[in-house]
Amino acid sequence: MEVVILPDPAACARYAARVVASVLAERPGAALGVAAGSTMEPLYAELARLQREGALDLSRAELFLLDEWAGVDGSHPASFERFVRERLLAPAGLARERLRAPRGEGAEIPAACASYERAIREAGGIDLQLLGLGVDGHLGFNEPGSSLASRTRLKTLTAETAARSTPLFGREEDVPRHVLTMGLGTILESRAALLLAFGEAKAAAAAAAVEGPLTASVPASALQLHPRALAVLDEAAGSRLLRGVYYRSVLERKPAWQRPPELSSARTRTDNPPVRPGGVRR
Ligand code: GLP
Repeated sequence: MEVVILPDPAACARYAARVVASVLAERPGAALGVAAGSTMEPLYAELARLQREGALDLSRAELFLLDEWAGVDGSHPASFERFVRERLLAPAGLARERLRAPRGEGAEIPAACASYERAIREAGGIDLQLLGLGVDGHLGFNEPGSSLASRTRLKTLTAETAARSTPLFGREEDVPRHVLTMGLGTILESRAALLLAFGEAKAAAAAAAVEGPLTASVPASALQLHPRALAVLDEAAGSRLLRGVYYRSVLERKPAWQRPPELSSARTRTDNPPVRPGGVRR
């Protein structure tokens, strides 16, 4: 896994936006897997700004939501769909139809999840999956113990994740215990994956995901199986990595052609060709 450690969330968001732009430059109608959560806010703000300034073009991208509360529709203030609509689509001036979300009720959930997986396949598969990180190492809503081969499905939250989600719903008893999430197998099929994590609270999970053993007990460690996974961490989230010095030296020595291009407004061309995360061109 490639690891990029940068001083703060703003720098991480700028770097991640360049990665998104490089994917869009290569495939304007790219399918992007999008996550919700506070970690995504600076990235979505940056993407929206770049879109408004004409430095990238998200208008043909197809967005697929990583996870959602079961039984919560896109109008609910805590809905992840609404989060992406309000933080990315609206400020970037993108139509809400560009975003699809896993959704289903009761016994129809398995069929709805299968149809969501089909929609991803019909879009040509996810080109870039954006991911946040749970403090317990969860990815999407794949809680510890999730199958490394899992697909989009209903999951039950751990008591800890439900408790941590209370601010979204006001009262802990109002937090849905059921969620729909892309599976780890779904995430591993994306052509590239970009994990973002900020802050000391994520440091142990980030270290376990990047350097710990591959284990369903740390779902994010599944990214070690991904051929093009990139973790972009701020100093605090990267503070418990054993190979931090090495990751920094890799970034410093990265050949220019391997770096995601710098972005400039009004769709001016950059000198660097677009490069996918991991520096491998298709
Ligand atoms: C939640 C969501 C994830 C999100 C993660 C991190 O449980 N299911 O999709 O990436 O936790 O959230 P945050 O960025 O707010 O720390």
